[in-house]
Amino acid sequence: MSEGRNLVGVDIGSSSIKVCELKEGRKGRTLAKVAYAPIPPQTIVDGHIMNTGVVTEALLKLFSDAKITQRNIALGVSGQSVIIRKITVPMMTPAELDEQIQWEAEQHIPFDIKDVQIDYQVLRKHPDRGQMDLLLVAAKRDEINDYAQFAREAKLKPFVVDIDAFCVQNLFEALRGMPAERTVALINLGASLSSLNIVASGTSAFTRDIASGGNAISEEIQRETGMSFDQAEAYKCGDPAAISGAGGMIPQQVQQVIDSACDTIAAEIQRSLDFFMATSGESNIDQVYVTGGTGNLTPLRNAIQRRARTPVEFFNPVDGLIVDSRHVPEDMLRARHAQLAVAIGLGLRKEKEKRA
Ligand SMILES: Nc1ncnc2c1ncn2[C@@H]1O[C@H](COP(=O)(O)OP(=O)(O)OP(=O)(O)O)[C@@H](O)[C@H]1O
Ligand SMILES: [Mg+2]
Repeated sequence: MSEGRNLVGVDIGSSSIKVCELKEGRKGRTLAKVAYAPIPPQTIVDGHIMNTGVVTEALLKLFSDAKITQRNIALGVSGQSVIIRKITVPMMTPAELDEQIQWEAEQHIPFDIKDVQIDYQVLRKHPDRGQMDLLLVAAKRDEINDYAQFAREAKLKPFVVDIDAFCVQNLFEALRGMPAERTVALINLGASLSSLNIVASGTSAFTRDIASGGNAISEEIQRETGMSFDQAEAYKCGDPAAISGAGGMIPQQVQQVIDSACDTIAAEIQRSLDFFMATSGESNIDQVYVTGGTGNLTPLRNAIQRRARTPVEFFNPVDGLIVDSRHVPEDMLRARHAQLAVAIGLGLRKEKEKRA
């Protein structure tokens, strides 16, 4: 499928930056290096980098501390700067498609075509109907240029950009294989955003970003109890120091706020699942997989399971990888593994890739 070295996966999330380097060999895939750094609130707002200096500094330090020398990266970009549509076009050759794609895109993208960069992938061919399904991806040029600019300042070279939902899908496919006959929902639950990707018979059928995640839960605890955001985070994450200070248990009032905030997020997710089923003709989702930092939260997994009436399983992005314990600190991996799905998914990408 692809050759060349793995790119370094760089995921700039709103709460933290995650960097992963994979090595693929005969023995399998090795998680060779991982670097993680929290970033201050308000550095990234609604997917836009407000303070590029902070991000550039953090990246320079992460690469240097983790001794990552490969500078060619695969970069995650926010779903808000990218539009994805599944479209159907007449059957044509790759050369014809390259020529036609701008015109086809124009029919489906609500921006001036001059302001966006277009990419696509053939999903399925229907020779009987003389048609084929494409996944059309359009990213705003301004946003891409902003990302390219700070990457240059951090002495990095982005070879590939991708969105969270597809990174998680790629990783899931690589580690577990995508079930051919089933419809599964992959949900990456982050701090400020959660991405939903419904994969039917092996291809992505629906993606949506939900503007909610772990921050909403901590903010709710803060509002209802008057504690600080950091304290609320500590309780929510089951931080032993916070809990032992409270006599070994999360206070009941805090637990109730967590449960209710989780139910609100689950309801939002359910609305998207319902929308998919209403518009796609699919009658059922067989399984929900969650990952991302907020995927750690059992009350949220339970709430999604209850609302969706579908089994929910945690997707561990490290399960199935060989871990190079010389370079990947075990305690960090234990605490942060759920947050690495996007960065590891990006780290699967290669310098040279063949087009499907
Ligand atoms: N053990 C845990 N239990 C509950 N929540 C956790 C735990 N660990 C991390 N989180 C939460 O996960 C979130 C961070 O996850 P993640 O790193 O996936 O988000 P991000 O990529 O920074 O943000 P986004 O993708 O929304 O921009 C935070 O809200 C954090 O409080
Ligand atoms: Mg994220």
